[in-house]
Amino acid sequence: MDGAEHLADVFVCPLCAGAFGVRDGRTLVCPAGHAFDVAREGYANLVPAQSRRSKEPGYNSELMTARHRFFASGGYRPVAEAVAGLAAGAAGPGARLLDAGCGEGYYLRVLRERAPGLDLLGTDVSRPGVRTASRADPAGAYAVASSYALPVPDASLDVLVSHFSPNPVEEFARVLRPGGTLLVGGPGADHLFSLKAAVYDHPRRHDEDKHVLTDPRFTPAGREVVRYELPVGDPGTLAALFTMTPYSYGATDADRLLGRSGGAFGTEVHVVLDRYVRTS
Ligand SMILES: C[S@@+](CC[C@H](N)C(=O)[O-])C[C@H]1O[C@@H](n2cnc3c(N)ncnc32)[C@H](O)[C@@H]1O
Ligand SMILES: [Zn+2]
Repeated sequence: MDGAEHLADVFVCPLCAGAFGVRDGRTLVCPAGHAFDVAREGYANLVPAQSRRSKEPGYNSELMTARHRFFASGGYRPVAEAVAGLAAGAAGPGARLLDAGCGEGYYLRVLRERAPGLDLLGTDVSRPGVRTASRADPAGAYAVASSYALPVPDASLDVLVSHFSPNPVEEFARVLRPGGTLLVGGPGADHLFSLKAAVYDHPRRHDEDKHVLTDPRFTPAGREVVRYELPVGDPGTLAALFTMTPYSYGATDADRLLGRSGGAFGTEVHVVLDRYVRTS
């Protein structure tokens, strides 16, 4: 199946939920005539023009470039291995998995390495993120789309991943099949604490229960905690880490911080991964 055919196979029209066909090899069209372009990089733009509230929704290209750069340093590799391990464990052969709010696609790339046979989908409202993700994983199906209006049919997913991204529980319940697995990743209490302490006078720990779902359609099925010290001695990597976090700071600040700490700055990675099963 070529790229556009694959997109037509897994995604549906965001306006009417109709099945897509492919026109001219690069446009997805539903039976009602709603048409969406497939970009050169192989992803579909499935945010209807009328629901686009800003010109550049989601993370912009500077934030995505910083994430891409930081991930390349390997600093979050243990987190990605844990997410991929849980996802692969929940997915049978050929299972369909969507990463909602996939960003620039790092977690799907690590999962692809570990479990090449899965049918992997990624969506995010950020076009620069989806562009990078799609370019780096030609076998996957990527679309610019909001997690609040996922362009997939009801009960069509075996596994749904949402990592440090919005968790619209109604929409997640709609798209995940009964018995399917939802993985939600979020910050543990101490996540990047010393980085915050370098920026704020009174840094606060994360509330790690903030992203816990209490909806009866999702039965909690275990929590995995990933926790380690992360040395960041390279100014470029530290600047990327600053840029990708909400406590945004510039390259000069990263240099200053490294100078103050004798070039041996380190911080805590503390990530909580909650697993749920969609009640049948
Ligand atoms: C902290 S980033 C996490 C990205 C990715 N999961 C990762 O861990 O690298 C949050 C992501 O949520 C996306 N986002 C924000 N609002 C969204 C929405 N309504 N629907 C889909 N994605 C959204 C942003 O564009 C951004 O890529
Ligand atoms: Zn339509």
